[in-house]
Amino acid sequence: MATNPCRIAVLVSGGGTNLQALIDAQSRGEIPHGEIVLVISNKEGAYALERAARAGIPAVVITKAACGGDQEAFEDVLLAQLAACEIDLIVLAGFMSILSKHFTDAYEKRILNVHPSLIPSFCGEGFYGLRVHRAALERGVKVTGATVHFVNEIPDGGEIILQKAVAIEEGDTPEILQRRVMEQAEWILLPRAVELVSEKICKTE
Ligand code: GAR
Repeated sequence: MATNPCRIAVLVSGGGTNLQALIDAQSRGEIPHGEIVLVISNKEGAYALERAARAGIPAVVITKAACGGDQEAFEDVLLAQLAACEIDLIVLAGFMSILSKHFTDAYEKRILNVHPSLIPSFCGEGFYGLRVHRAALERGVKVTGATVHFVNEIPDGGEIILQKAVAIEEGDTPEILQRRVMEQAEWILLPRAVELVSEKICKTE
């Protein structure tokens, strides 16, 4: 095992409850092979930034708009920031921007994403946040869940690492279902997957 834990960057866009789950798991000692050293938000004012500040984790805001609205320029700024902080592992935790091959090739098998459904259901472009739960309820499935997977150039198409099923209940709204999927699946799976991959990275370095 490498002497140092994996340096982890968490990319966020919103409320950051998955970031919080990672911070809490880290403080309980459940991610011994990794350390969250950087949070990047692509949205000004995201509540996740508040969570990073409270945990004493350095955070930066990098928006596509500030990069002239150009995706490649945006990804180049992200890559420069990640390189400057010597990041080994990137975690997309509610990061609402689809990254191109230009970015994903630079961190092959080093980017994780949490998605709020059982991939390959209700995933890919256009399926994010509450839209995923709305689609599951409209289709009438009785079981949904969450998936943590590696990120490649295909939206939600990378290798699956962990999945957990969650029951849909009578009277569920997208909001109620979102909360249950977070509580019963996402907040448990994501820290576990981060530790699994961090350990693997430590062992191969
Ligand atoms: C989470 O449910 C996450 O799985 C989802 O957005 C939410 C972010 O919540 N991500 C996607 O839909 C990505 N395709 P959070 O900011 O509270 O972690």
